[in-house]
Amino acid sequence: MAMIASQCPDYRVVVVDIDSARIKAWQSDRLPIYEPGLQELVQLSLNKNLFFSTDVAQGIREADIIFVSVNTPTKTFGQGAGRAADLQHWEKTAREIKANSTTDKIVVEKSTLPVRTAEAMERILHSGNKTVHFEVLSNPEFLAEGTAVRDLENPDRVLIGGHATESGRRAQAALVDIYAHWVPRDRILTTSVWSSELSKLAANAFLAQRISSINSLSALCERTEADVAEVARAIGMDARIGSRFLNASVGFGGSCFKKDILNLVYLCQHYGLKEVADYWEQVVTMNEYQEDRFVQKMISAMFNTVANKRIAVFGFAFKADTGDTRESPAIRVARFLADERVAVVVTDPEALSNARKDLADLGAKISYELDPYTAARGAHALAVMTDWAEYKTLDYRKIYESMVKPAFIFDGRNCLNHQDLYEMGFNVYPIGKVPLHHL
Ligand code: UGA
Repeated sequence: MAMIASQCPDYRVVVVDIDSARIKAWQSDRLPIYEPGLQELVQLSLNKNLFFSTDVAQGIREADIIFVSVNTPTKTFGQGAGRAADLQHWEKTAREIKANSTTDKIVVEKSTLPVRTAEAMERILHSGNKTVHFEVLSNPEFLAEGTAVRDLENPDRVLIGGHATESGRRAQAALVDIYAHWVPRDRILTTSVWSSELSKLAANAFLAQRISSINSLSALCERTEADVAEVARAIGMDARIGSRFLNASVGFGGSCFKKDILNLVYLCQHYGLKEVADYWEQVVTMNEYQEDRFVQKMISAMFNTVANKRIAVFGFAFKADTGDTRESPAIRVARFLADERVAVVVTDPEALSNARKDLADLGAKISYELDPYTAARGAHALAVMTDWAEYKTLDYRKIYESMVKPAFIFDGRNCLNHQDLYEMGFNVYPIGKVPLHHL
């Protein structure tokens, strides 16, 4: 919405939320999330044509177009628990829109939703109401965290799904007009609502599948002395495969990949497509295997005993340039290590407060340090979980001196200079490459 406000001065954008602390924070110099460039972007339009408010009813009443961006987490209860999307916030919002609307509205699905959710929304919005017309569009978001501002400024495509009716086309055109303020027309795709809803799930499933594919090969590389980075480069130069998103890692995290794939799996099961469901579920299974394999490797490298050793977890965010820790591989790894009675020290430049919440139940088994040098002092091993740029330029000689010997580095992101570290004395365990060890 901040991007729309800054690119479209002729539109008035009002963001409403029931959480007053968040609404306050969005208007302050400390936004509720860390995202490079976002603070500056919000400031550009704040109180000019970008407003924040807790008055949801008024926001609905005055709007012509409503973007619904409530969260749709994986259901944790009842039918479809652990797979299906929990649509209760969406439905509640639809009812609120219906209750407060006195003029026609375009309702845009911005949240990621199962295919055919728009149908249910339309039924709720139009139930018993004949005076106000609601046109539901699907406009999924493809930005990635950490690069959100750049992705929004220069998107590969904008997708707008609508119905092939007169009012559907009019609504689609109204939304196209907004994006066309800064996105070239040939990058704005219009499709049916169902194709648009499914494309969002499909895009995330394909991206996650690439990571699981290269991660599966990283296990084979470690057995055969092939180097996963060399393999990724060799296959990625085939234009049909492409070079991006082929970095082997400890696993993918983030609030979307796992949730969206499980949602896709649930949908396939719902429609009786067992083989299709099993095919996609394997992407998530492979990711969990990769996380567990990482910890197994740590334990076996450290003489099959890690109890009472100190291990510094470098990075807790699910990727660099965000404070977000949702589904971060670091969570599973830290829990696994705590179970093994390791003294786990977590360090991260932006994600420590989220890490504390994620691991709250582990109490004193985990400690937290903002400074990576302090975290590493007295440690037997470092486990790199997030590819923060600053981890590439730390003084590892100084870190090595402060650690218990033999000192280990497990690079879950293949982001460090392994040869240099080895020469300093570290025993280095990358992903999908031959380890470099002195033992
Ligand atoms: C992802 C998609 O990339 C966005 O297009 C989508 O809009 C978003 O989900 C969403 O649905 O909201 P995001 O989860 O923010 O974006 O971040 P990604 O850059 O996709 O990274 C996801 C995870 O995969 C991270 O843990 C990252 O470290 C890992 N990853 C990524 C790898 O392990 N290897 C790679 O080569 C690339």
